[in-house]
Amino acid sequence: MNIILLGAPGAGKGTQATRIEEEFGLTHVSTGDIFRRHMRQETPIGKKARSYIKKGQLVPDEVTIELVRTTLDELGNNNFMLDGFPRNINQAEALGKTSNIDCVIDISVDFGVLMDRICGRRSCLECGYTTHISVCPDGTCPKCGSELVQRMDDKEETVKQRLEVYKNETAPLVEYYTRLGKLRTVNGMKSPDEVFEEIKKVLK
Ligand code: AP5
Ligand code: MG
Repeated sequence: MNIILLGAPGAGKGTQATRIEEEFGLTHVSTGDIFRRHMRQETPIGKKARSYIKKGQLVPDEVTIELVRTTLDELGNNNFMLDGFPRNINQAEALGKTSNIDCVIDISVDFGVLMDRICGRRSCLECGYTTHISVCPDGTCPKCGSELVQRMDDKEETVKQRLEVYKNETAPLVEYYTRLGKLRTVNGMKSPDEVFEEIKKVLK
């Protein structure tokens, strides 16, 4: 089974991907995580990506599409879960030429909650655990005890730009995949556990 997780920045794609990976054994392919890994390692892709990510803009399609194509090739184009890709119609069409997608799950949320969710997000550099500052106010990872950090693009001004990009470029994918008969919507306003219950019903 190959699936796509769609949803605005902060909708909970990464949060649900961890659960789906455990329950269904799908390999989590997050373009955001791949770019962040390249940035940490200071690769040419990482240097290029940083200049776009820090402004809340999309990394150019020619870079992103090629990166995803090689990643999916390595997985034999099977049993994957895309998170953060595709992000515009051009990326979706490129993906459609090389991969079969069984289901697109759109995590639907009210825009009003996103700023707080994203600006409050904290991640563990050591184990990758993601949480919210309200849950861990002392800045320590509840899983491994390491320091929690904020993502470079989780500042208010950058988040505003990311939400604009989502509205203009990514939201049209909801209609695109509805027309292809692949879209299933879940209510992302519920608790993470409740959202996951809805996703399980869709995938089983
Ligand atoms: P990316 O890393 O993909 O970021 P994003 O799409 O903006 O999404 P986020 O990771 O911010 O949100 P999420 O939905 O994963 O939410 P999470 O589960 O963490 O992309 C970053 C950048 O990389 C892009 O801006 C772009 O520059 C570049 N890029 C990436 N892909 C690209 C592509 N295809 N093409 C071009 N450029 C690309 O949750 C967020 C917070 O909410 C957390 O604090 C969490 O604890 C909390 N939370 C989660 N679920 C719930 C819930 N149900 N209730 C309450 N709180 C919740
Ligand atoms: Mg994410």
